[in-house]
Amino acid sequence: MKDKVQILKDKLKESRLGGGQERIDKQHAKGKLTARERIHFLLDEGSFEEVGALVTHRTKDFGMDKHIFYGDGVVTGYGTIEGRQVCVFAQDFTVFGGALSETHAEKICKIMDMAMKIGVPVIGLNDSGGARIQEGVRSLGGYADIFHRNVMASGVVPQISAIMGPCAGGAVYSPAMTDFTLMVENSSYMFVTGPNVVKTVTNEEVTSEELGGASTHATKSGVTHVTAANDIACIAQIKQMISYMPQNCEDIPTDVFYEIGEETREKLNGIVPENASQPYDMRDVVNGIIDSDTFFEIHKDYADNIVVGFARLAGKSIGIVANQPMSLAGVLDVDSSKKAARFTRFCDCFNIPLLVLVDVPGFLPGTDQEWNGIITNGAKLLYALSEATVPKVTVITRKAYGGAYDVMNSKHIGADFNYAWPGAEIAVMGAKGASEIIFRKEISTSDDPVAKLAEKEAEYAEKFANPYSAAERGFIDEVILPKNTRRKLIKAYALLQNKVATLPKKKHGNIPL
Ligand code: COA
Repeated sequence: MKDKVQILKDKLKESRLGGGQERIDKQHAKGKLTARERIHFLLDEGSFEEVGALVTHRTKDFGMDKHIFYGDGVVTGYGTIEGRQVCVFAQDFTVFGGALSETHAEKICKIMDMAMKIGVPVIGLNDSGGARIQEGVRSLGGYADIFHRNVMASGVVPQISAIMGPCAGGAVYSPAMTDFTLMVENSSYMFVTGPNVVKTVTNEEVTSEELGGASTHATKSGVTHVTAANDIACIAQIKQMISYMPQNCEDIPTDVFYEIGEETREKLNGIVPENASQPYDMRDVVNGIIDSDTFFEIHKDYADNIVVGFARLAGKSIGIVANQPMSLAGVLDVDSSKKAARFTRFCDCFNIPLLVLVDVPGFLPGTDQEWNGIITNGAKLLYALSEATVPKVTVITRKAYGGAYDVMNSKHIGADFNYAWPGAEIAVMGAKGASEIIFRKEISTSDDPVAKLAEKEAEYAEKFANPYSAAERGFIDEVILPKNTRRKLIKAYALLQNKVATLPKKKHGNIPL
């Protein structure tokens, strides 16, 4: 019996060493943690239960039968984060560069199936040289098996991907279909085709980092939602991010204890400048409203004319979508619409109430925007907010002009409570532009067109550059002092927590893509 126990111990010991100490040292020399170390830092101490530690590949070609490693390049299992169950897989770069074989894929699929069955989030830590070249189409089939599960799990359980090394070719499409992608700066990259292929096909000279490094995807493509300086920081971000989410689509996020007290915030009264064309940082408004230090921003460096992220309000998880007057005056454009639509849909999938803060002068004009489909892309945000059935509350801090007024969670598309600050301007457009159009004749035939324009502008502003016309019609439920915003919102969400809203029966909607 002792021998049998020893056999098991030896196998597990071998499995824990992955591709061996030499390759582990190489991984460390690159400033990267191993798959097991990453899992160790991700999960609560001692909570990890491994599944499939003794799985091996089945390939005999190219002498592969002489290169067998227990675990086959991926560590899979389950454990807890702050006491909550999660399923996890971490690719082990020390085994065939973390390349994905048929059995490696089977392990990932098994843990995903488990997550779906019990309704817990899936966290994937990616670090892989892609398809296991020695296995050919079997490896490609393995990817597709994972992709299909990513789609089936979408909207059922939260799926988070961290890219902590290479992720190229077909491998990129699993993270792309998960809810959030995080990347580690300077040690990870993602691309469909690498620099050599790019050079051959397009004659462009580009490094891996420029083509698909963390900062590229955080600023240019928006493929990554969050970046981190190193593996440990990345894991800490995953843990924080997941704290705002429920376990699955039938669950609600866990509250943090909060005792409601004096909830007025005087600071909010002084953020919006008197001059309507002067910018201010909408993050100051966000931070003035929410529980202190709880804003977890998503896509921080991408499409920064809109700010989105998770936060807590009186201990409850909320998702925030807010125009940012500091960037492009807070206009909606192609990228900001896509960014906000995607985030809105995540919150709606997982029962996270939405707060929309509005200061929007309209859509960005220009050929670039029109030719890149601002019509279809702007419609994404309109569709996403209209479709969302979670509690939806809007606060107009300043401008809400034109079609963008409708899009930004207006009453008309199903918002539950719409508030406006006293300086809000809710109109088809700014007073100057409006006067130039509707009083053109009067102005051009006047003895003093400049004075006439000023007079008409003042007249238009008096009528529409305020929240009262909208309030009179009930499009705004209440005009509130900025300092009372937090108090109002806490009460509104408390009322809305039992909101029931259903969509008409359908197979699925057809969001403009
Ligand atoms: N299939 C099988 N083995 C692979 C592999 C793959 N796709 N990618 C890497 N490996 C193996 C290497 O043979 C090497 O094995 P060894 O430790 O026994 O020597 C090990 O993984 C580490 O690879 P190495 O090239 O030494 O690491 P690196 O950090 O210098 O480079 C990559 C990493 C990913 C850039 C490089 O390995 C690479 O280009 N891999 C192929 C990528 C690819 O074309 N994939 C298929 C299409 S999706």
